[in-house]
Amino acid sequence: MSDPKKTGGLAGIVAGETTIATVGKEGVGLTYRGYTIEDLAAQATFEEVAYMLIYGELPTQSQLDSYRHTLKCLRGLPAPLKTVLEQLPRDAHPMDVLRTGCSALGTLERETKSHDQLAIANRLLALFPGMLLYWYHFTHSGKRIETAIDAPSIAAHFLQMLHGKPAPELHVRAMDVSLILYAEHEFNASTFTCRTIASTMADFYSAVTGGIGALQGPLHGGANEAAMELIEQFQTPEEAEKALMQMLHEKKLVMGFGHRVYKKADPRSDVIKVWSKKLSEAASDKVIYPVSERLEAVMRREKGMFPNLDFYSASAYRFLGIPTPMFTPLFVIARITGWSAHIFEQRAHNRLIRPTADYVGHATRPFVPIGKR
Ligand code: COA
Repeated sequence: MSDPKKTGGLAGIVAGETTIATVGKEGVGLTYRGYTIEDLAAQATFEEVAYMLIYGELPTQSQLDSYRHTLKCLRGLPAPLKTVLEQLPRDAHPMDVLRTGCSALGTLERETKSHDQLAIANRLLALFPGMLLYWYHFTHSGKRIETAIDAPSIAAHFLQMLHGKPAPELHVRAMDVSLILYAEHEFNASTFTCRTIASTMADFYSAVTGGIGALQGPLHGGANEAAMELIEQFQTPEEAEKALMQMLHEKKLVMGFGHRVYKKADPRSDVIKVWSKKLSEAASDKVIYPVSERLEAVMRREKGMFPNLDFYSASAYRFLGIPTPMFTPLFVIARITGWSAHIFEQRAHNRLIRPTADYVGHATRPFVPIGKR
């Protein structure tokens, strides 16, 4: 039998080939199709990154202009989908809403030769923000918002629909960078789920719906919400340090720290931390950012652990006025790009994903009829 400590959770197992991303080569570093995350976060827009992930290469200016236009035209929700969203309860988790919305769309705009995987990838990319915020406004204030509005980018579209007015440039760029950072991450749990479903030759929506389900858990995408719930318990860094020391003493998991693949640092965390600080200063915040920094310092000092992307994304999103349960849905809004690229890649070189297991149960034994047990 293999050692579960070593093989549990498929840690260190190479489960396939990809041309889409590298994660943690030599313990650090992230690239999308050969471009470093630092270059992309500093110089690209989310739409450029989305195009590159979905089509394989960076767009020219005219390709980008036309792609932005295409995505804008895909923002309208079909009427039956609005009806479905209106039936979902106000206290549903927004991840459940996106999972249901994606699945419902799969019955309304089925994958066919003329409505192919590329069309669906772009449709979901354009539609997820509206799907989420239509449901949110309808169930929270009875308002049926128009989602097909003329905001210049996905980041601006999301913030404008959420707050009912165009967001400041600083906020739009912070959101744009966050979407870039969340766009792709190799064979993580949700992407591997998408690939596994795609490998059965199921349709595109089934693969994405499964990916959303896998992303929801706090060990994966849900960590940004869990990190916020931790951070906002404290009013001062001292209070945060005391409580964190107690958590560590009790061997509790601290959400937003640690990573399966990165061993020294998560390169995305440095980028989002800078944005969180900028937004904190702009909001004259004196609590959330200092508390976050203290939690980071204590985790480094006590456990030698570093924050992952989810930790400072939490405070950044709070400064953008985003309700905590929408943090993981924002991950979906970004990651649909990476998932789509992986589904395309899986389909292009498909072989059914079907591993085997070490059997550790009973030896073969005689069946005893029910009256004689
Ligand atoms: N807080 C406290 N201790 C942690 C920790 C955390 N966030 N992450 C890992 N550890 C500890 C584990 O308890 C374990 O201790 P042990 O050897 O005494 O049992 C050790 O560090 C190794 O962790 P392990 O569970 O083997 O790591 P993993 O590769 O299986 O898990 C994560 C990786 C991401 C699931 C894990 O770090 C975690 O749960 N982090 C919090 C959730 C999170 O932020 N997820 C988002 C990831 S991007």
